Amino acid sequence: MEICPNLNSQEEMQMKRIGLLTSGGDCQALNAAMRGVVKGLSSNVKDLEVYGFLNGYKGLIYGDYRLLTSADFSGILTKGGTIIGSSRQPFKLMRVPDENGLDKVEAMKHTYYKLNLNCLVILGGNGTQKTANLLREEGLNIIHLPKTIDNDIYGTDVTFGFQSAINIATDAIDCIHTTAASHNRAFIVEVMGHKVGWLTLYAGIAGGADIILLPEIPYDIKNVVEAINNRTKAGKGFTILAVAEGAISKQDASLSKKEYKEKLAKRKFPSVSYELANQIMDKADIEVRVTVPGHTQRGGSPCPYDRVLCTRLGAAAAKAILDDDYGYMIGMVNNKTKRIPLKDVAGKLKTVDPDSQMIAEAKRTGISFGD
Ligand code: F6P
Repeated sequence: MEICPNLNSQEEMQMKRIGLLTSGGDCQALNAAMRGVVKGLSSNVKDLEVYGFLNGYKGLIYGDYRLLTSADFSGILTKGGTIIGSSRQPFKLMRVPDENGLDKVEAMKHTYYKLNLNCLVILGGNGTQKTANLLREEGLNIIHLPKTIDNDIYGTDVTFGFQSAINIATDAIDCIHTTAASHNRAFIVEVMGHKVGWLTLYAGIAGGADIILLPEIPYDIKNVVEAINNRTKAGKGFTILAVAEGAISKQDASLSKKEYKEKLAKRKFPSVSYELANQIMDKADIEVRVTVPGHTQRGGSPCPYDRVLCTRLGAAAAKAILDDDYGYMIGMVNNKTKRIPLKDVAGKLKTVDPDSQMIAEAKRTGISFGD
């Protein structure tokens, strides 16, 4: 790979051979983050080889990779998706042999050692991070970068993709506002996030939603209907609800995990929003419509905040590699990049605290959480 002349005496002798892998649901700033890593290294080592594993852990398991050149990292700061592809490879199946009896963990180690990598940089969310930690436990040099529009990775203040997704979900709510007002309807905008409600919370507040329903704060349908009726009584003909994919009623939250799964399997609606719309129309005198922006929330160009975040996280990852210091997630804590031991964060989820200042402040402005 072409090298920029930014070498100091200690680093100029170094040769680095790294692997890159993007796993799980994609997001807008994966390319920006990989670019940050590669630029941070190529400016500081004499010789750099970068292997891109194709379609997530699959590429590492089956030895499907591409030697990338500096041209691959040119012009990708603004490009959404991932230039090396992604896929979902559940952590719980990593120890289960594939259909041909292949031991996936041994296969990944084999690919890593065959290429004689100094380090594997893994970009992904919670599940991806668990497998990254497993590979660390198996002795591989790992750096993890926290990607997800869900912002639910423990140990970092923010994940990349989150801010870009907030912008898209907020735009969706903004657009719905005008049509809801014209027709005096209640509108549900379903925002991504099955387990956590960060995206719904931020987009809901930013979009001026009247009701926000999150997985962390189970709702009572009576309270939701009451909030709508109160608006109608106050002369506001429309209501906007920002509802997380994983929003859950108090009744359902009291079920065991197994019972809830069984109930979901039998649900006659495609998602919670449609079920909710049906219940609201039953109980309140208002027409309800549902809008699901879905995967648009993960698409398009990364916003400027995410471009900066990824450039910083990527450069900090490059520094850890230059230092030969591995086994970390590179996070952002109090606006400083930080090496956070993977063993301390893998398997933990960062959820919205119902008792947080942010929720209290949102409630003070009149937003109902249905609780
Ligand atoms: O990557 C996170 C996420 O976008 C969640 O917010 C969402 O619930 C899920 O992925 C959707 O997954 P898939 O792309 O596999 O349908």
